Amino acid sequence: MEPSLAVDAPSTTRERFVLRRALALPASTFAEDVRRGLEASPKFLLPHYFYDALGSALFSAICELPEYYVTRAEDEILRTKAAEIAAAFGPNVRIAELGSGSARKTRHLIEAILDHQPSLDFFPIDVDAGILASSSRDLIRDYPGLSTTAICGDFRDPAALLRPYLPPSDTRTIVLFLGSSIGNLDPAAAGAMLANLRTALAPGDALFLGADLRKSPSILEPAYDDPLGVTAAFNRNVLVRINRELGGTFDLETFAHRAFYNEAAGRIEMHLVSKIAQRVLIDGYEIAFDEGESIHTENSNKYDVATLATLAAAGNFRIERRWSDSNGYFADLLLVAE
Ligand code: SAH
Ligand code: AVI
Repeated sequence: MEPSLAVDAPSTTRERFVLRRALALPASTFAEDVRRGLEASPKFLLPHYFYDALGSALFSAICELPEYYVTRAEDEILRTKAAEIAAAFGPNVRIAELGSGSARKTRHLIEAILDHQPSLDFFPIDVDAGILASSSRDLIRDYPGLSTTAICGDFRDPAALLRPYLPPSDTRTIVLFLGSSIGNLDPAAAGAMLANLRTALAPGDALFLGADLRKSPSILEPAYDDPLGVTAAFNRNVLVRINRELGGTFDLETFAHRAFYNEAAGRIEMHLVSKIAQRVLIDGYEIAFDEGESIHTENSNKYDVATLATLAAAGNFRIERRWSDSNGYFADLLLVAE
């Protein structure tokens, strides 16, 4: 694959938008990860494989669901507190965003920062190159002061992604990690990822971290098991990808979406449960399922004050500020690199 992608942006904006591939090769391929996960016991698939073009569109639909409070809660924080948050970032900043997706909520922060400085460098990072291209084009069209270097790669090794594109600078680097995407990593991996990110930052740089808070299962579970079936489609889409990209023979009708709150672990778990005993072929090998056997497709860890403090400490960050929505569902934290 080319290290950098030509982009057919209009000539007036071309110089304000580049899309780059991560320089380091991924540790493993989709095919290898699928085989490793489906041959494990219990079976699992890694959640970043949800996000192809259809997966990103389904995630955008999830954000519109009445039951999925997560996006609305963080949007309320960023919309109502943008000026305060931008003031806490300081006078001369550049921003990177891990798992930027549509970057819709990010607009509140971009606008508030551009109220204080004439131009802003933005480094969105995502595994889905398509959403990076479309969100970047929309942003540079709407904000003449914005320049965007989009980086397509896996945010679980953020230092490798950021170092080549963020040379040392007098500008303060703020890394955004919104939407509680941190929750899709298990606590130990989340701490290790923040520690890895810290190595690419200078003392005083900061991480602005969105975290979904622990709450009643009566609110949590419908957010991940909506009556319209959008989250079920998002979950099953990983099987669609395996069929299309790896020649899989999954019959989607025979896998049920299951999402529940695991109280002891403090996380929502998503699974795809085989309704029947069956065998599935993938690119020349076979995977057997018992009736009722599940593929664990995602964890969405929920946080409280203690787990957030542990996370910050694991990454060698100090919690400087914290903002919450009016329902107390979600928190955004400013974590300063020690
Ligand atoms: N930040 C946005 C989008 C969240 S959805 C919001 O708060 O609404 C999660 C986004 O992270 C998707 O765009 C997905 O493609 C991306 N993503 C998920 N896992 C990733 C990984 N390991 N590396 C890079 N991007 C990832
Ligand atoms: C991207 N991430 C934070 C979402 C979440 O809430 O864990 C992904 C998602 N999975 C099901 N619904 C939304």
